[in-house]
Amino acid sequence: MSKAGKTGRRVRLSVAASILALAALAPARAEEAGELFERACASCHSGAIPNVPTREALEGFSPEAILESLETGKMAAQGEALSAEERRALAEYLSGAPLAETVAADGAGRCGGDRRPDPDGAVPWRGWDNGPDNQAFQSEALAGLTAAEVPRLALKWAFGVPGASSMRSPPTLAGNMLLLGGMDGAVYALDRESGCLFWRTGIGSPVRTAIEIDRLADGRMVGYFGDGRAAAHAIELRTGTVLWSRRLHEHRLAVISGSPKAHAGRVYVPVSSFEVSAAARPDYPCCTFRGAVAALDAATGEPVWRTFTVAGEAKSTGRSRAGTQTYGPAGAPVWATPAIVPELGLLVIGTGQSYTSPATPASDALVALSLADGAPRWIHQATPGDAWNAACARGGGANCPSEDGPDFDFGAAPVIVSVGGRTVVIGGQKSGVVHALDAVDGAVLWKTKIGRGGALGGIHFGVASDGARAFAAVSDRGFGGTQAGGEARPGLVVLDLAEGRELWRFDDPADCPGLRGRCRSIAGFSASPAALPGVVFAGALDGTIRAFDAVSGAVLWSAATQRAFDTVNEVTARGGSIDAGSPVIADGHVYVMSGYQSFNQVAGNVLLAFTVDGR
Ligand code: HEC
Repeated sequence: MSKAGKTGRRVRLSVAASILALAALAPARAEEAGELFERACASCHSGAIPNVPTREALEGFSPEAILESLETGKMAAQGEALSAEERRALAEYLSGAPLAETVAADGAGRCGGDRRPDPDGAVPWRGWDNGPDNQAFQSEALAGLTAAEVPRLALKWAFGVPGASSMRSPPTLAGNMLLLGGMDGAVYALDRESGCLFWRTGIGSPVRTAIEIDRLADGRMVGYFGDGRAAAHAIELRTGTVLWSRRLHEHRLAVISGSPKAHAGRVYVPVSSFEVSAAARPDYPCCTFRGAVAALDAATGEPVWRTFTVAGEAKSTGRSRAGTQTYGPAGAPVWATPAIVPELGLLVIGTGQSYTSPATPASDALVALSLADGAPRWIHQATPGDAWNAACARGGGANCPSEDGPDFDFGAAPVIVSVGGRTVVIGGQKSGVVHALDAVDGAVLWKTKIGRGGALGGIHFGVASDGARAFAAVSDRGFGGTQAGGEARPGLVVLDLAEGRELWRFDDPADCPGLRGRCRSIAGFSASPAALPGVVFAGALDGTIRAFDAVSGAVLWSAATQRAFDTVNEVTARGGSIDAGSPVIADGHVYVMSGYQSFNQVAGNVLLAFTVDGR
């Protein structure tokens, strides 16, 4: 089961060696795998369903990522119908790379003896979107970078995550350390100046979140994160020793996708699930997962409270058109990182759609819970009646609820800002609407529609703020026909915080020669942006990272990341789509992750460090 942990310690051989190993693969085995693909996978993966990875896109995956998906990831329900040998054969056949022919990478890129990890200095970038308010904002002092210097940013070093096909969560920084969760199932601690490796700790499941950093009462610096099997972990930063691990949900397809937030001796962790993808199988008994948030003791991992987004456990609801037993209510996963409003004692979460009909009242909602006991203080449901799962992507599969979408989650982390003395929650929704709510009671202050909306956003992963403006990334990609009507307007949209007026907009030119025909189909800004005074950074799905003047919208700097990179740890690495987590800005450096294979996007496994004048 713990394949990911093992593969993480390895890297692929050089291209020449891989080709030799492939040539050695028995042709009969490749033929069998090809037939297996036609029989078990092609119905959904032949290109008929928009944004489900095609046969060609799966070639960009590492074999480890495909295997992980079939064993414990999004395709676990599909993989269950196969033998372990068949899953491995498919992973190798589809990626065109061998699983077994990998070698240990230990040693390459390790820090020399004089560089030691020291997490005790400042924490210049903390967790997902930098702190409890999720503004993804860096002060001028900590940025060490001015708007005038931004045009001179140049690549300093690159680090490759072996065997990964996606870079999901932004790195975080403490003292001289950079902490990175890898989809290969490990936490990496690097020297943030040079990118050399201090330590690597395997977890045995993809690390899907940012490492939330906090100090324990005894003075130790600790990182908190979540994995692909819904377990939360605490890791000591100086040594890489795991202090505790705890599974937070009973459902076997539960997963932690939103990053933890630590506050006052507790860690708050959201729980989501892959059941939404499992439901695509007509013989999957849909659906039984319900979204949750857990509060844990930061020192021990002991549960303090857990609140579900759906009241009561799922019960039998009869049979589907395919004759499969059905259950409900289910869904309202929490895959956005929560925000903390200490002065009001609130934890603010965003929820996704219901998986079953009828939709539940806390789905597609911004919800404020009491930090103390998890009791709901207010619920603002933005889209009532939204029930959807991946069965709908095929044009009404047996498990598709009668509502059939529109799948308008709150996937972007809620952002907390202060406007005229009032504490305000800014929520970006996949509907393409940015909502501003009074944090005290959830009353709507304004809402502005800035994109067409769809199952991949509208606003997908993020909104940033510099305290005066909201910077919202608009993807406007559809998924299996779920996009709302109207014209797509992918790009970056900037709103004033007082009234939600549009100040400027950058329309994504989707200008990526390396991708040719595929470029337009992945136009859009999906990753969370990040800002410093006067500048906003935003990465695009075509792999371009840009810095904009925050007031005029002028492009100050850009770099194409959709290419191969030489890495400090000598791992074969490529950039691809920039998605999910934001760029990270500190001490004259901008760290950017590139590569994100989901939804037929471009795979990659690289962390890039840019700086000015060789700082
Ligand atoms: C019933 C439809 C269906 C079948 C059959 C199916 N898939 Fe998928 N697959 C999907 C959908 C839908 C997604 C996209 C899910 C998402 O990204 O949310 C997906 C995504 C994937 C991904 C990407 C996972 C990720 O983490 O982004 C891989 C790899 C994959 N499928 C492999 C396979 C293989 C191999 C088979 C055959 C054994 C298979 N699938 C069979 C519907 C299907």
